Amino acid sequence: MNQTSKNDNPNWWREAIIYQVYPRSFLDTNGDGVGDLAGITDRLDYIAGLGVDIVWLSPFFKSPMKDFGYDIEDYCDVDPLFGNLGDFDRLVAKAHSLGLKIMIDQVMSHTADTHAWFNESRKSRDNPKSDWYVWADPLPDGCPPNNWLSVFGGSAWQWDTRRKQYYMHNFLVSQPQLNFHNPEVQQAHLDAQRFWLERGVDGVRMDACVFHFHDRQLRSNPPALVRDTSTVTDVNPYGMQAHLYDKTQPENIAFLQRVRAQLDEFGAVSIGEVSSDDALEQMAEYTEGGDKLHMAYSFNLLTPVHTAAHIRTQVEEFNERVKDGWASWSVSNHDAIRVATRWSDGKPTPALAKLVLAMQLTLKGTPCLYQGEELGLEEADVPFELLQDPYGITFWPEFKGRDGCRTPMPWQASAPQAGFTSGQPWLPVAGPHAAVAVDRQDSDPDSPLNFARRFIAWRRTMPQLTRGEIVFFDAPEPVLALRRDVDGMDGVLAAFNLGPEPVSFDWAEAAQARALDTLGLPGSAAASRVTLPPYGAWLGSVPANAE
Ligand code: NOJ
Repeated sequence: MNQTSKNDNPNWWREAIIYQVYPRSFLDTNGDGVGDLAGITDRLDYIAGLGVDIVWLSPFFKSPMKDFGYDIEDYCDVDPLFGNLGDFDRLVAKAHSLGLKIMIDQVMSHTADTHAWFNESRKSRDNPKSDWYVWADPLPDGCPPNNWLSVFGGSAWQWDTRRKQYYMHNFLVSQPQLNFHNPEVQQAHLDAQRFWLERGVDGVRMDACVFHFHDRQLRSNPPALVRDTSTVTDVNPYGMQAHLYDKTQPENIAFLQRVRAQLDEFGAVSIGEVSSDDALEQMAEYTEGGDKLHMAYSFNLLTPVHTAAHIRTQVEEFNERVKDGWASWSVSNHDAIRVATRWSDGKPTPALAKLVLAMQLTLKGTPCLYQGEELGLEEADVPFELLQDPYGITFWPEFKGRDGCRTPMPWQASAPQAGFTSGQPWLPVAGPHAAVAVDRQDSDPDSPLNFARRFIAWRRTMPQLTRGEIVFFDAPEPVLALRRDVDGMDGVLAAFNLGPEPVSFDWAEAAQARALDTLGLPGSAAASRVTLPPYGAWLGSVPANAE
């Protein structure tokens, strides 16, 4: 069994590792070119073999797929592309038999415009669901009621001829924003969540959870004092506003408390996706007190910036602000350029892949790994003609969207489509990915995949890494140097070279350290001199209480 049982340890999720599966691109078993639930079930042994605990499934619900499942038409059914409820039940049963927990992705903020709720709401200004979405009259000059912008480009308001009003959408025009000020909307979501909890899911990811509520007075946002480029690309004007009124509203706290109360009935856990002007603040606010979300992640490590100072600041500031809340640190996911490319200035190497895994698994917080990171996959170069992501199509060519991190998992180096499908994949298998497919890496003890397995297994034996305090040390860029401690146990020192040049530096702490060299990390220490090759790392153990 992989995980700590939730019965033994109520905080088991703090010590866990999350693995994100993007179902469209994991494994296709029916040859339609799109991954499916049966494919995930088929590869649960692989996932369990990594040593992770929780499998987060990106949305597989009924959807018109304009945003590839993040636009939901029916919260309580599986899209036929992915299978059916029976397939989901089989997936959960097998996961549980392997000691894995299943986390679904709840996209509450908005629905698809094909959802029955929206069809009804848009019919008239006085139907029973007329107030389920965010509707507003035009200004006297016909313009939208305020300056709110959509993350995916343009105004957040779309004119609807049936009601002769605007409706709000934070993302695509086809993703109308629900009105959480209406208690019926909140209840409908809680009911849908209960449907899945009763089916055996162990957790939920709360998509875009800062967007649930909007300012009832519809006040315009002021300009941003500092342009936000962490949550959106720098060619997106969305980052030019201070998002005071279109998201992060105080009413969300009470709603998250209702969600938590329901999750607690089932012993289920939650992770929130936080994208806001001060994401560390919302991560702290939403996770402290033990009565809202269990953990939250932001886009703060999904950035191109990867200096040691940046990483240190995120983790350190979160811990300073958070009291008893909890972070999850993501360095890659289905919304960001793959880290192997993003943090290597486009020159990914297996050494970098291992370094990033080791670093992510050493930070304080629950790590969330994205499918393919264990292989060190680089960002795929998807040509404009094959682009699927509407976000990328709008902002091309300066921003290419999210297709490059969503291409199929390569399973077999020599099989057609790298073993992902017997048909035509919905996104091309990236040329360089076949050579680093799972079967190739399986047979290479030095591969990122085998390193990930070893490191995860070792981490499980090190309470310092799963629940220890963290302190950082000054080291020359690009070295991230830290120590993890649990009372009464030896401390763990770690130094990560985030750059492509060798580094050597003096670290007084290292003088007393015994190298933890069983993992095959390429760094070394002689007395206080730590030497790290390009993208190298060194780990050492120091006696408890050594200063
Ligand atoms: C956040 C999800 O991670 C992203 O993929 C999606 O497009 C937006 N929310 C809208 O649901």
